[in-house]
Amino acid sequence: MTGLNHIEACVFDAYGTLFDVAAAARDLRHQLGGNWEALADLWRSKQLQYTWLRGLGGRHADFWQVTGDALDFALATLDLDDAGLRQQLMALYLRLDHYPEVPDTLRQLKARGLRLAILSNGTPRMLEAAVDNAGLAGLFDAVLSVEEVGVFKPHPSVYQLAVDRLAIAPGRICFLSSNGWDAYSAKAFGFSVLWCNRFAQAPERIPDTPDGQISTLAELPALLH
Ligand code: LAC
Repeated sequence: MTGLNHIEACVFDAYGTLFDVAAAARDLRHQLGGNWEALADLWRSKQLQYTWLRGLGGRHADFWQVTGDALDFALATLDLDDAGLRQQLMALYLRLDHYPEVPDTLRQLKARGLRLAILSNGTPRMLEAAVDNAGLAGLFDAVLSVEEVGVFKPHPSVYQLAVDRLAIAPGRICFLSSNGWDAYSAKAFGFSVLWCNRFAQAPERIPDTPDGQISTLAELPALLH
């Protein structure tokens, strides 16, 4: 791809983009045995479904609640109900591994004078814990939680929060998400968008197609002119 011009800020999705959502179940793979990947997948997909269902139904609950509810569903489905296991997995969700290229990429972007932010479904407490654990505190100009607007992505008011906080026009913000639906929705909102398609997923069939795709965030600095 040719790259993006006039970008003043990079705004990152958190879960799946900066932080590896499969890490919690992977850390307990010896306890979970052959089930750890099934648990990670079901937990994540149910977590996202619950955000959308709560949004459509006008019944917001914060991402910590939704993450716990989704875990309960996944544990019950796989016949793994166990209070101790649940507690361990939720604790691990507060200190998920970052993807390997993240710290260096953020430092490169910051050194070039770009403003950096997170825009995530996560609660302020969850995001602060993840950022601190990854040693990334101090790199971000803003860590923005949907809790400020009381509705989950992809409601446009979530994306508007980044515009308002950074006071930068949407087209001059490069939004990055590994979640295809988030990348497409951010493009529909008006951001410049690169889909960090880590898992080589098929294109989504929703408005609007992102400006380009990368496979890890390490490709990002070279694309901003
Ligand atoms: C987030 C979810 C969508 O961090 O990954 O907002």
